[in-house]
Amino acid sequence: MQLLYGWLNAPHVAERWDGALTLAEVQESYFKDEGEKCERFLVYLDGEPLAYIQSYIACLCSDGWWEDITDQGTVGIDFFIGEAGKLNQGLGTAMLQAFARRLFSNASVNRIISDPSPENPRSIATLEKAGFTRVGNIVTPDGAAVLLEMKRSET
Ligand SMILES: CC(C)(COP(=O)(O)OP(=O)(O)OC[C@H]1O[C@@H](n2cnc3c(N)ncnc32)[C@H](O)[C@@H]1OP(=O)(O)O)[C@@H](O)C(=O)NCCC(=O)NCCS
Repeated sequence: MQLLYGWLNAPHVAERWDGALTLAEVQESYFKDEGEKCERFLVYLDGEPLAYIQSYIACLCSDGWWEDITDQGTVGIDFFIGEAGKLNQGLGTAMLQAFARRLFSNASVNRIISDPSPENPRSIATLEKAGFTRVGNIVTPDGAAVLLEMKRSET
């Protein structure tokens, strides 16, 4: 809990994620079991905590998210490197590649999507380096976004 709280409030994450959060907000948003709807992962490098990733089945989302996606095989991801000292060393790219392999090891997953802000070129560049393809610009409940995808058939 303290680890995630610290990461979420680190400037490089807060400016791209949810802004500053209280401990109670972190508890409410990150520590409830949502089953297959949303899975949350801490990522470790050499035994040390490095990053956070969440994945979700897009068609199970509500509140205006992914209303045009109906198949169960499309999984969305959101992610950040928590440790500021580990940015820009290729770890985000490696993490996304490893996580995509893990998701595709589930035979029911056939497409992975991510929707960074157009104002987050570092995230877009990292997704593209990891093998994602830019599909186009979209509008989500969070605002303007760039949709990127990786299809099982392309891996
Ligand atoms: C996005 C994030 C996970 C990338 O992780 P990382 O380990 O720093 O990424 P990598 O080192 O693997 O690759 C970053 C690439 O982006 C490029 N990059 C960095 N800033 C950039 C910018 N402003 N414009 C374009 N490319 C940029 C780097 O040059 C690098 O590419 P290169 O190796 O070809 O030079 C990390 O920056 C992060 O956690 N950011 C804060 C949270 C966030 O934005 N999460 C994504 C929300 S969708």
